[in-house]
Amino acid sequence: MAGTFRTALRSTIPGKVYEAHFYGVEQETGLIDMDKVEATALEVVPKLIVCGASAYARDWDYARFRAIADKVGALLLADIAHPAGLIAAGLLNNPMDHCHIVTSTTHKTLRGPRGGIIMMGKNFDNPWGRATKNGEKIKMSAILNSGVFPGMQGGPLEHVIAAKAVAFQEALQPEFKEYGIQVMKNAQVMADAFVKKGYKVISGGTDNHLMLLDLRSKNVTGRDAENALVRADITVNKNMVPFDTQSPMVTSGIRLVLRPSYPWLQRSRLFEGN
Ligand SMILES: Cc1ncc(COP(=O)(O)O)c(C=O)c1O
Repeated sequence: MAGTFRTALRSTIPGKVYEAHFYGVEQETGLIDMDKVEATALEVVPKLIVCGASAYARDWDYARFRAIADKVGALLLADIAHPAGLIAAGLLNNPMDHCHIVTSTTHKTLRGPRGGIIMMGKNFDNPWGRATKNGEKIKMSAILNSGVFPGMQGGPLEHVIAAKAVAFQEALQPEFKEYGIQVMKNAQVMADAFVKKGYKVISGGTDNHLMLLDLRSKNVTGRDAENALVRADITVNKNMVPFDTQSPMVTSGIRLVLRPSYPWLQRSRLFEGN
């Protein structure tokens, strides 16, 4: 895990059920160092490697992650909740070619209703030798399906399923790609503007639709920035920055997310020149 959730994880159910180790980002660059990911994997020998984050502005090297997972016998899962729409539009690397399992929300850049999806590029026999009573190996897809239902989920929400179908159909249209390109351009222009104004943008910019600002050089905490911006009707998240010196409730940064689903962005048709 890249570490954005490092502190929050301890108080979540996954944090209590699983033993998580982190590869994190480099203090100097704000980037994931793939050699360190490999070294951590060789040391920990995890059962599952997760790539994906909520505040990482750069693209992911899924092929290298897969090579590392294969080296240590781990499954590779990409959580593409944030960049899913940009990936669907072909604007960022595609994890489906490399990862065993890909999960996403449907309500971020994918521009659909609130919800989640679990995908597999290619089905395979479960790696733990689990078999049916007849001795047939159970496919990984069947294990995932039964984990969702009856494992977790109750009755279906048909209206949300219908809305997901609409979102997927929209994501297949050429206009969706154009829109994704505009979102990425807007994000890059915004990141450059912050750099020019002397803000520290983690990793120096963005490849996707979001950016993380370290406000320590401005002597403002993430909490104060969030509260001030909310008073101006601008909704942002306070966010831990790598190697943060503040608590998770205060933080030293804010995360700015340009989402195609924001109605005011759609209505005002903001372009990079504005
Ligand atoms: C990487 C990642 N995965 C999953 C989620 C879960 O999304 P939600 O809490 O909206 O269901 C988030 C939320 O921000 C996220 O950033």
